[in-house]
Amino acid sequence: MVKISPSVLASDLARLADEVEVIYKAGAEMAHLDVMDGVFVPNMSFGMPVIEALRKHSEIIFDVHLMIVHPEKYAERFIDAGADIVTFHLEACDDPEALIDAIKARGVKAAVSIKPATAPEAIYHLLDKLDMVLVMTVEPGYGGQSFMPEMLPKIKALREEITRRGLDVDIEVDGGINPETAKLVKEAGANVLVAGSSVFKAQDRRAAIDALR
Ligand code: DX5
Ligand code: ZN
Repeated sequence: MVKISPSVLASDLARLADEVEVIYKAGAEMAHLDVMDGVFVPNMSFGMPVIEALRKHSEIIFDVHLMIVHPEKYAERFIDAGADIVTFHLEACDDPEALIDAIKARGVKAAVSIKPATAPEAIYHLLDKLDMVLVMTVEPGYGGQSFMPEMLPKIKALREEITRRGLDVDIEVDGGINPETAKLVKEAGANVLVAGSSVFKAQDRRAAIDALR
C-alpha cells in the first residue's frame, strides 16, 4: 500500500500544529518535515526547535528530511526532537554506513536520499541496512517545482534491485508529486509519496491525499 507524507513546507507554518492535525485526520500516514540549512541547499526552513514543539501536538509519524551538511552532527538531536524517520543526503555524508547505524541504534528508521544527478547505483551498497531510500524528483531546496520524469528509470532500477535482493525497503519520492505524477512513480516502484503543494494548496486536503493514492 502506498503511504502519503505531505510536506509541511507548503502549509501555513504559523499554524503548523493545526495544519498537521488536518492531514493526520485526513489519513496521511506521516508528515514530511524539510530541514534546510542554506548550505547544502540554497534555502532555509526550520530546525529541531520547531520539530520538538510540534511533537507535543501530534502523534503522526515525523518523516524528517535533512537537507544539511554534516548530518552526522545533528541527526541525534533531530531524534531527540521527535523524528521517527531520519533521512539524510548521500551527497552530504562521508560515512553513510556509520550514520545509518547510529540512527537505527536509537530505534528510529534510517533513510538516505539522492539528488537528481546521483546515480541509483551509488546507494546499492547501503540497501541492506536501509529502511527507506528517498529519490528526489526535483532539485532539493524549494517546494512547488516541476517533477523530473528523467527520475523514473532511477526509481525503477532501485525497485528492481530491492526486489532482486528480497529486501523490504521503502522508496520515497519527493518533488512535484500530484495525482498525474503519482501514477507514474507508483508504476515505477515508489511506495511513499511526499507532496507539498498538491496537498496543502488544495481546498480539500482529504480529497487531495485520496487522489494521490
Ligand atoms: C524540496 C523538498 C520537498 C518539497 C516538496 O526540496 O524536499 O519536500 O516540500 O514540495 P512540492 O510537493 O510542492 O514539490
Ligand atoms: Zn523533502
